[in-house]
Amino acid sequence: MNWSRDLIEEHLIVRPSDQKVANLLNDIKQKYLEEKGESIPLSEIEVSAYTQFYMPTNARKFDFLWNQLPEKVKNEIIELPFIDFGCGPGTYTWPAIDCGIKGPFFGIDSNQHMIKQARLLGEGLFPDADVSFNLSEKGIDIDAPKTLLFGNAVNEMGVALTLKWIEKLNPKFVIFIEPGTSKVFKEILKMREELKDRKYQVHYPCASLEISCPVVGRIIGTGDNEREDWCHQVLREVPHSSIERIGQMAKMDRKVQPYIAHVYELDGTNKREVQTARFVRFMNESKHSFVWEVCLLDGDSQEIVEFEIIKKTMDKKAVKEFKKLSIGHEVSYDLIKDVAANKKRVSVKLLNGN
Ligand SMILES: C[S@@+](CC[C@H](N)C(=O)[O-])C[C@H]1O[C@@H](n2cnc3c(N)ncnc32)[C@H](O)[C@@H]1O
Repeated sequence: MNWSRDLIEEHLIVRPSDQKVANLLNDIKQKYLEEKGESIPLSEIEVSAYTQFYMPTNARKFDFLWNQLPEKVKNEIIELPFIDFGCGPGTYTWPAIDCGIKGPFFGIDSNQHMIKQARLLGEGLFPDADVSFNLSEKGIDIDAPKTLLFGNAVNEMGVALTLKWIEKLNPKFVIFIEPGTSKVFKEILKMREELKDRKYQVHYPCASLEISCPVVGRIIGTGDNEREDWCHQVLREVPHSSIERIGQMAKMDRKVQPYIAHVYELDGTNKREVQTARFVRFMNESKHSFVWEVCLLDGDSQEIVEFEIIKKTMDKKAVKEFKKLSIGHEVSYDLIKDVAANKKRVSVKLLNGN
């Protein structure tokens, strides 16, 4: 689905003017920044503004994540019921349907306006989908294996309440797509430990739950800019012109979207191939190479190292692709030379689409 505002507009609860939408987006952002550790109830008109701006741009994160998952994991998820918790207007339900997941789909949200909006989008754009949106877990078979997704909801609900829902709904797969901030990274790290205790294994972005995260406690930057690092992904793409326009009016950039995505499986086994690395930070580009920091799985340790990726090992198309790469991609690599203790000259191959 190529999301644009024209596509959504007909199916909004209310249709405020563009200037009103831009103002509302700033109000909503302010509400989310004032974190009170509880649900932030948006009004009908705010839900309409949220839907036309955030839903299309957030939805693309699901597509990216989906393309990064091992085939075996995707094939299992495709066959399972899918729950979008804190679903809002169905932000991650719609791309999950588009990716070929069979469902049935259940959206749960405590805000009745979000539920009304999600239903309207469903009736208008996905009339044949097996999807229901409710204020509770009504209709869900608790004992059946399922996928449970939290989209920008842990940030609002906190770790303890999220865990309660995981225990109650007993999912086989858990997916988080949350804001890419250092604060959320700390929450997701807590979640990672809790899920490890509950016998989950990770499929994205880490290589394994048995290996500690190499980003934790790492200091980046220098002088006044020195800060603790945090692991996140960054989606880089130009949104549809109708959304970009509202973004410009609201002074909100959606070309660069930081977020934190994690995928876990109950009693899962690690499916990450050896000799792979995940891009975590773009460093620089010269005439001869790209330099990226990667999270490298090496035997039974995971570490952050610099990859100097030599351009002459790539064809022209690959060089072009590398210029607009998003953070979070997985690559396989061949070592050309160990340049220093934490720097390798390599040739790489992108492993998944997007
Ligand atoms: C930031 S919005 C995210 C909506 C959508 N998932 C997205 O990413 O665009 C968070 C949603 O979580 C819902 N929410 C917060 N606490 C909740 C709870 N305890 N139970 C159900 N929904 C909750 C809110 O009503 C809101 O719609």
